[in-house]
Amino acid sequence: MNAPSELPDLSALWMPFTANRAFKTKPRLLAGASGMHYTALDGSRILDGTSGLWCVNAGHCRTEIADAIARQAASLDYAPGFQLGHPDAFRAAAAIAGLMPDGLDRIFFTNSGSESVDTALKIALAYHRARGEGQRTRFIGRERGYHGAGFGGISVGGIVANRKAFSGALLPAIDHLPHTHLPRDNAFSRGQPAVGAYLADELERLVALHDPSTIAAVIVEPMAGSTGVLVPPAGYLERLRAITSRHGILLIFDEVITAFGRLGAATAASALGVTPDLITLAKGISNGVVPAGAVAARRQVHDAIVEATQSGIEFFHGYTYSGHPLASAAILATLDLYRRDGLFERASSLAALFEDAAHSLRNAPHVVDVRNLGLVTGIELAPREGAPGARAAEAFQRCFDRGLLVRVTGDVIALAPPLIVEADQIAWMFETLRQVLGEIDANTGRA
Ligand SMILES: Cc1ncc(COP(=O)(O)O)c(C=O)c1O
Repeated sequence: MNAPSELPDLSALWMPFTANRAFKTKPRLLAGASGMHYTALDGSRILDGTSGLWCVNAGHCRTEIADAIARQAASLDYAPGFQLGHPDAFRAAAAIAGLMPDGLDRIFFTNSGSESVDTALKIALAYHRARGEGQRTRFIGRERGYHGAGFGGISVGGIVANRKAFSGALLPAIDHLPHTHLPRDNAFSRGQPAVGAYLADELERLVALHDPSTIAAVIVEPMAGSTGVLVPPAGYLERLRAITSRHGILLIFDEVITAFGRLGAATAASALGVTPDLITLAKGISNGVVPAGAVAARRQVHDAIVEATQSGIEFFHGYTYSGHPLASAAILATLDLYRRDGLFERASSLAALFEDAAHSLRNAPHVVDVRNLGLVTGIELAPREGAPGARAAEAFQRCFDRGLLVRVTGDVIALAPPLIVEADQIAWMFETLRQVLGEIDANTGRA
């Protein structure tokens, strides 16, 4: 192994969702982590304002999780999940089911959010087929939705850059709802914005256009994270639920970001009071320590599929690592930690302070919107003329240089710290961001 401060040869690794050439000329390498902080290769400390990639909800290098994984690796390293099992996979499924909204108590394991999304889409198809409605093959996603990088996920997803290179190979029967971002009505909303429930009615138009008998499921992130923190307008999700129920369409919440405390409850479904038929999970499920994901299915959905088959395999789907022993151990230890330390409640009790701190940037240079929910905020900057995204990218680098990790999408800066964050760290994050925004284009005359 290299000494911690030694920069390795960077050429072989083709990095995901990264400007590879730019990165390799100015690499940012992390060498360690503990609690709220990363340590960079040069030894500097960086406050993790983004829970890694929205996943390290309990903070870094928690010994409870590390010990559980180490014990598992030494006693049962791998167990096939097809026609065999091991106790911790069943225990982990029960622990997850116990956190889901009532009725969603059947858990299918995956290894990532992308796999969870593809799994949920396949469950939806299998469900309708099992009930004699196999013609329901259409999915409705939403503009600015992110559902991972698989073909299913990019097809229902609504991010142009993620789709255009592959546009000839997307799933065929897809349509999209409009996104819910209405800056003219809702800029600087605190929590759920007041305007926009009517956007859900667009689903009625799509249902009429395609006929409900062709539609399998609607999939949305209850709060869109990756495309810049789009908080659902009050009443919007309720309306989606009502319309899908009326037409026998399954509603899938992609909770890869929102589950496990981010919004101050186990799920966005429970935080926002709307229960879908399927929930996709990943990230915080294992505190990001071991790749893991799952789909929570309403029991009737599970039963319809399982009971439609006389004997043999009921659902032809799964992964070599579904319910992997290390993932199962990590999930059990993570969920224990969330419960023992009351981290969902902690997120909920910090939300008002976090909201105030975020909105204190309202009059900071370049800021055109601040939105927030739970322990998430999106701070949107006016784009630099002719260079969309450049201003936020500069803010990202300047924050990093000052020891703060933020996440940037277009011109939106997102903050979503681990749920163990302290009040003084929240204050420092937003103060640092304020200083950085004050430096950007300060002497150029650019607005
Ligand atoms: C809502 C949502 N769905 C799916 C994914 C994909 O998860 P993964 O990168 O683990 O495949 C993400 C990742 O950010 C996500 O935010």
